[in-house]
Formats: sequence, C-alpha cells, structure tokens
Amino acid sequence: MRHDFDRIVDRRNTLSLKWDHCEQCFGIEDVIPMWVADMDFEAPPAVAEALRSRAAHPIYGYASTPDSFWQAAIDWLDRRHGWKVERKWLARSPGVVPALSLCVNAFTEPGDGVVVQPPVYYPFFWAVENNGRRLVRNPLAAGAGGRYVMDLAGLESKLDERTRLLILCSPHNPVGRVWTAAELEALGEVCERRDLLVLADEIHMDLALRGHRHVPFASLSEKLAARTITCIAPSQTFNVAGLATSLVVASNPKLLSRYERQLRASGLGIASLFGNVGLEAAYRHGAEWLDDLLEYLEGNVNLVERFLAERLPMLRFVRPEGTYLALIDCRSLGMDQGALDDFFLRSARVYFDSGSMFGRETEGFERINLGCPRATLLEALERIARAIESLQDRPGDPAPAAGRG
Ligand SMILES: Cc1ncc(COP(=O)(O)O)c(C=O)c1O
Repeated sequence: MRHDFDRIVDRRNTLSLKWDHCEQCFGIEDVIPMWVADMDFEAPPAVAEALRSRAAHPIYGYASTPDSFWQAAIDWLDRRHGWKVERKWLARSPGVVPALSLCVNAFTEPGDGVVVQPPVYYPFFWAVENNGRRLVRNPLAAGAGGRYVMDLAGLESKLDERTRLLILCSPHNPVGRVWTAAELEALGEVCERRDLLVLADEIHMDLALRGHRHVPFASLSEKLAARTITCIAPSQTFNVAGLATSLVVASNPKLLSRYERQLRASGLGIASLFGNVGLEAAYRHGAEWLDDLLEYLEGNVNLVERFLAERLPMLRFVRPEGTYLALIDCRSLGMDQGALDDFFLRSARVYFDSGSMFGRETEGFERINLGCPRATLLEALERIARAIESLQDRPGDPAPAAGRG
C-alpha cells in the first residue's frame, strides 16, 4: 500500500463538523465521531499540493473554470467507469445536496410526487418536502439472504400521473448496495414504461468495494440517459466534501438547460476557487490513492464484521458492497431509537447517525462511518463491547438476545 491510512490525524480545531459536533451540541468530550460522511484520512497528496500551491497566492477572488476542469471529470468517468460523457452534458453545483433540491424544483411542480426508496440518505426527504413536493416512499425490500433490493412492483403500484421523478441512490447510502446492471435495467424498464425521470445520486460511484462494480444508470442505454440527470462529485471519493463542488451530468439538452435555468435562478452557479482546484487535481491524480483507499476500507469492513460476529453477536452488521458507511441492526438491545442513540453516545462514547433518520425502516439501527484509521475503529468497537457488557452486568436488566434481527 502506497498511502498510509493508519496514520491518525488530529482533526480537532480544524473546523471539522464531524469532530466538533459532539462537544458543541452535547458538551461531551472524548467521543469517537462516526456519523457524518467524511473520512479521517488525508486527501490525496496531489490534491493537498494543488490547494496549497493556489493558497500560496494571497488573492482569493472569483474563480474562472478552465476547460481542463471539465476534461478532468470526463477523463475520470471514462477511465474509471467506462462512461463516455461529453462536455456539453455537464454543469456544476455547489454540492450534490443543493443539486437534488435544484433538480426537484426544475423537474417537478409543487404538489407533484417524487419517489424515494428508504431507508435512504435523509436529505432526499428534505429535497422533496422542503420544496413543497409530495414524498412517495417506496421502501427497499429484503431479498435473498436479507440483502436489500428495490421493490419494483411496489413502485408501480405507487405511481400516479403527478409522480414524474424518482431519486435513485446508487450506490445506496445507508444500505451499502452497489446495484447490479440487471437491477438497474429492471428499474429502467419501469421508468421507461411509466415515463419517470430519474435523478441519480451517484456520489458514491467510485467507492464500490471488492467484487462489486458500479454501473452509471445513464450508461445503460441512450434512452435511459435521455430521462436521467446524474449527480457526481469528488467529495466522498477523495474526502474533499468541504470544497463544496460537484457536477451534474445530463445528455438530454432539455434536462440540462432546465437544470441550468434553476441554478441561475437560485444564484448558486458561482464556482468555488478551491473547489475547482481540488476537483481537477483529484480526478487527474487521485486514482492510485483511491485504489489504496478501497483496499483499506475493505479491511475495515472485515474488521467490523469479524468483531461483531465474535464479540457482539447480538448486533447484526449489514455488510456494505460499496461506500464507507454501513448499518448495524441493534434491535436486540431492546431500546427505542432515542435510548439507543443516547446509549452509544453517553455509555460507549461513540457517535453514530441514528437509523431512524434514514426512514422508519431502520428504527433501532445505527449507521457507522468506517472511514477512519483501523486503530480508531478498533477503539470504537472495544468501547461498544464494554458498554454492552456493562449493560448485561446491571442487575435487573435483561441480557440482549444473541443473534436476533
Ligand atoms: C447519497 C449522498 N448524496 C449526497 C451527499 C452529500 O453531497 P454534498 O456534500 O455534495 O452535498 C452524501 C453524503 O453523505 C450522500 O451520501
């Protein structure tokens, strides 16, 4: 491995949301934060170097966007995903979350239905409901071996003439599925037949773990591409979310121009100087770093799976196929979500994203962020084990049932 992901980097006092939150909000120190989706790893050296080099020039005025910025993304998508994208299909956004809202506004009217497939990244709910649209929930189902799958029969039954947009999470946060080409094709068939537009959030596209391959939804066919707007970003892949720079891809010029009109109307089209520098450097020079990262994340996933199986069999780990985020089913502890969150924060001193944030389907779950050095991960797991052991030792408390869920 060419990059040292074991290195522990102190992020306190660096304006890190992930690290500041527990102390600021709960007044609790010494909590291992494993919630919001950024990793405790240094960005690729070429990204840090490019940012340092630009920062050394002490004038930080409005940024221009050179052709090389767009070309870096085009080359990345081709090399990494075999997806051939043209410059005229691309637009920018100050992040994928803003792009979701812009697209909901661009492609639907107030009161229209927008489909989401919970449990899912909670800003999907906000993008729909905070913009006065109707949330059409089509929960994922349990497939063979408990693997999450899309419920396409359920989807068809929920569509009406005012439901014209589906937000796809691919790979899916928080269940960690990397949808196969066959699954996406089956979804595409429904979208074609029922005339649904697809807003594909593919921010985790580069983070398919071993044995899995991400397929861009819009790469399946030209027909599907014509009804798809895809959101991509270097932010999750290269741990540069703070640069607030992402891209929107749409081969259909009508869709792209509707998006761009919305972008201009909201005043969000301005480029970020450091975002421009970081995106280009990451897509140009980040491939080796990413290969190493994926290998390291695989090791972290294996560690959690082994640790829970051996030491905490009452917790069920939903092994992710992609992303560095994963669900842990904690229902056997017999606590409601509030008590469970509190238990992990105050007794274990580990802070997760609460399962219920992703939908009622994951009530009693927690989402763990595995993007940290292995020693940090192990320390968090030991803290959880100690806290659960002390729960079992407490007189009068029922011992959690092993293997449930
Ligand atoms: C599915 C998904 N979309 C979007 C984001 C965030 O996007 P951005 O930081 O570009 O707004 C995340 C971060 O966790 C995510 O998981």
